[in-house]
Amino acid sequence: MGQQSTGQLDTVMQESRVFPPTAEASARARIKSMAEYQKLWDEAAADPAGFWAKLAKEELHWFEPFTQALKWNEPHAEWFVDGKTNASYNCLDKHVAEGRGDRVALIWEGEPGEKRQYTYAELLREVSKFANVLKSLGTQQGDVVSIYMPLTPELVIAMLACARIGAIHSVIFAGFSSEAIADRNNDAKAKIQITADAGYRRGTVLALKQTVDAALAKSPTVEKCIVFSRVNEAVHMQEGRDFWWHKLMAEASDDCPATPLDSEATLFILYTSGSTGKPKGIRHTTAGYNLFAKKTFEWVFDWQENDVYWCTADCGWVTGHTYVTYGPLSAGATVLLYEGAPNYPHEGRFWELIERYHVTLFYTAPTAIRAFMKWGDHHVEKYDLSSLRVLGTVGEGINPEAWMWYHRKIGAERCPIVDTWWQTETGGIMMSPLPGATPTKPGSCTMPLPGVIPQIVDSTGAEVDATHGGWLTIAHPWPGMLRGIWGDEERYKEVYWEKVPGKYLAGDNARRDADGYYWIMGRIDDVLNVSGHRLSTIEIESALVSHPSVAEAAAVGRPDPLKGEAVAVFVTLRGAEPSEELRKELIKHVRNQIGALAQPDDVRFTGTLPKTRSGKIMRRLLRDIAAGKETVGDTTTLEDYSVLAQLRTEDE
Ligand code: WTA
Repeated sequence: MGQQSTGQLDTVMQESRVFPPTAEASARARIKSMAEYQKLWDEAAADPAGFWAKLAKEELHWFEPFTQALKWNEPHAEWFVDGKTNASYNCLDKHVAEGRGDRVALIWEGEPGEKRQYTYAELLREVSKFANVLKSLGTQQGDVVSIYMPLTPELVIAMLACARIGAIHSVIFAGFSSEAIADRNNDAKAKIQITADAGYRRGTVLALKQTVDAALAKSPTVEKCIVFSRVNEAVHMQEGRDFWWHKLMAEASDDCPATPLDSEATLFILYTSGSTGKPKGIRHTTAGYNLFAKKTFEWVFDWQENDVYWCTADCGWVTGHTYVTYGPLSAGATVLLYEGAPNYPHEGRFWELIERYHVTLFYTAPTAIRAFMKWGDHHVEKYDLSSLRVLGTVGEGINPEAWMWYHRKIGAERCPIVDTWWQTETGGIMMSPLPGATPTKPGSCTMPLPGVIPQIVDSTGAEVDATHGGWLTIAHPWPGMLRGIWGDEERYKEVYWEKVPGKYLAGDNARRDADGYYWIMGRIDDVLNVSGHRLSTIEIESALVSHPSVAEAAAVGRPDPLKGEAVAVFVTLRGAEPSEELRKELIKHVRNQIGALAQPDDVRFTGTLPKTRSGKIMRRLLRDIAAGKETVGDTTTLEDYSVLAQLRTEDE
């Protein structure tokens, strides 16, 4: 086994090291060997619907049993037809009913250091109370509830309370702008808004309610707004519309039985960027998603009863839906939630938390790992990380160097690393090592989970020699797959099912090596991956063009050592001259339009944008310029570009 020092190999194409699971990891694991994994995978692949149906019966509570495992009318899947269940019940009541009510469900630490803890029985009471609060404000089954909150137990409580009564939550990450909230609220026709007065981030107070006030001025469908007092800030409360969380909770009964819901009842929508300017509301339903979240959580993290599990994602992203909330809670896990930044008040905050709470399973993102490497090992070395058992990553491919650092510095060469590939659309992890079974290769998400059947195809849909790479598709429906794009049936078909008929098109390129390991090679569309978050180039361009001084804009990704990709934009102006002031203003404008995560790192003014004869922006050329592979001046003219463009093919 190669155990070379880091830094020698930094491209995944050359990566050849293999790290088998330790004997200790295999001995205690649920799935103990590759032979066991292969047997399970083969069994599932032979009859995916039967495989999942058996698990659904065992793992979920059913108010009414289902009569059919899968109804597949491409591209529409219905799983566990006619069954009735409830995700909130599976996450809470089931544990209490089965004698696990005293187990700790949530441990929370706020950024300034407050600590709170809830057992499953306590969480059930809070969720039931808040479900009654929602009802008292007129929330009904099928209504959309928009949630814009800091990472507090109340965020999880709000999600589970929606699930309890069949309301559909749409969680919007609390870093998005008022414009972005209003767009999502309007697209979803949200009826209720839940927010907080403010939140903490890196020591500063974010005025969330103020942002929501601006959003609600443009969200005509929202009737009521519930405000959780997180920071004790004085905020504007609009009479008849805005209500304090604590006041409503003080009067609410804690008796609210979970509503039996159809397996295919929409559980939530979550907006994510696609290749157009308009974010899509990815729609997930109840039973299939819940089962997939639970099983994939148990398999991938090898969850066991005494584990303390920490996923650092915010509930504003899909990882926070599936692997902070629904997966671990339906398994009955003890989940740590931390509200704040990894470097506040110091760069060792994460390791301090792992030591304090004896975290055993830790799940984070490559962008965070790269930041930890940069901050220095001394922040890690101060803390006792010996409780750790399994380490995970998600959001983007992990560079072998970062993988090696994670393996050595955090995992002490003892903890298996699970590099998990999945998407908002897939609902849960699709490909990942299993800690007790899969030998890992740094930078590879290794192999598909049982019941997941990937295929690599060319643009005609034909299977190709996968070692050369191609489009990643999934050949058979799985329970956690998206059921649609909210309010846009056509787009759902077009984006995921039309280019390669009969298979789900993931939008990623991938290759499979001679050992059957998958390597994700990046997107096939204009989606950027900035710090593990999806952004569409067109979304950023539309934001820029909405500024009065901008005529045209092109956004591209630029490799960035910390963020993975940084946002570089090229703009042509109308009625304005390039200036430092305008550059700053445009950056601020994108922040206001979308949110801080979309803010350009690099703004270049240009006299013109290079285009093909058919008028398409030559993005590849712009990417090379942004990456410094082609040099042009800061305010480039048509002549400069045309020289470069002549050197290129015109048919990008
Ligand atoms: C990328 C996040 C390589 C990929 C759960 C995918 C990854 C997109 C990995 C989905 C990984 C996610 N290795 N690439 N382990 N995980 N990606 O919807 O391009 O925010 O299509 O879901 O992130 O991002 P999303």
